[in-house]
Amino acid sequence: MSSRKKLIAGNWKMNKTSADGVALARDLVVAIGKQAEVDVVVCPPFTAIESVGKALEGSNVRLGAQNMHHEASGAFTGEVSAPMLRAIFATHVILGHSERRTFFGDTDEFVNKKVLAALKNQLRPIFCVGETLAERESGATLKVVQTQVERGLEGVNRDQAASVIVAYEPVWAIGTGKVATTEQAQEVHAFIRGLLTKLFSEPVAQKVRILYGGSMKPANAPELLAQKDIDGGLIGGAALEARSFVELVTAAAAVK
Ligand code: 13P
Repeated sequence: MSSRKKLIAGNWKMNKTSADGVALARDLVVAIGKQAEVDVVVCPPFTAIESVGKALEGSNVRLGAQNMHHEASGAFTGEVSAPMLRAIFATHVILGHSERRTFFGDTDEFVNKKVLAALKNQLRPIFCVGETLAERESGATLKVVQTQVERGLEGVNRDQAASVIVAYEPVWAIGTGKVATTEQAQEVHAFIRGLLTKLFSEPVAQKVRILYGGSMKPANAPELLAQKDIDGGLIGGAALEARSFVELVTAAAAVK
């Protein structure tokens, strides 16, 4: 087993009112609030994030956001900043999710600015990359992922790089029930670690956690999480119910 601690992160996307989010957070605190074998993060929508953070207080479950702007403040209607997230005790932020890239125009350059701003503010980016079905079918997967990683992490220094979390999320596997095979996932994860070695050094690359995301469920998680370079999961649908999310954390804890 690698020395990297497994990480299970829940991306609630545009789901859960504040009250629903608090109820889920309370269930998680009861079930997994004290375990320390696996790092656990939940990322509620902005309207729920502060109240969920309060419900998580005193537990080992960390709080993350699903996006942020790279500027600290100013005339950016509809946006929130890294200092605002820090002020409500968020520790992580998902950046460059494919849904942001597809529907909201997040480019590699924009994502890169956000990654740098997150690191400057001691927020750990969960930096997402992944190919579309058309890109996979045309054999472009590794090239696409390489470009996203190189551009998204431009200007990140070696000291900062170890606190970046990369999430490999093949777009065709998100919310579709079509999970990547363990071989497909491991191949891309190993490729990303190789890139990180070139960009930052071998010791840094060995520290970076690379999560898999895309229809990860309790049934397929043990096999995925047993792969050498898969250090956890970024979970959508299965993070919306305490039972399945807890089972994923248990599965990650069981990997030897
Ligand atoms: P699903 O687990 O619903 O496929 O979503 C994955 C995802 O996009 C997490 O960020």
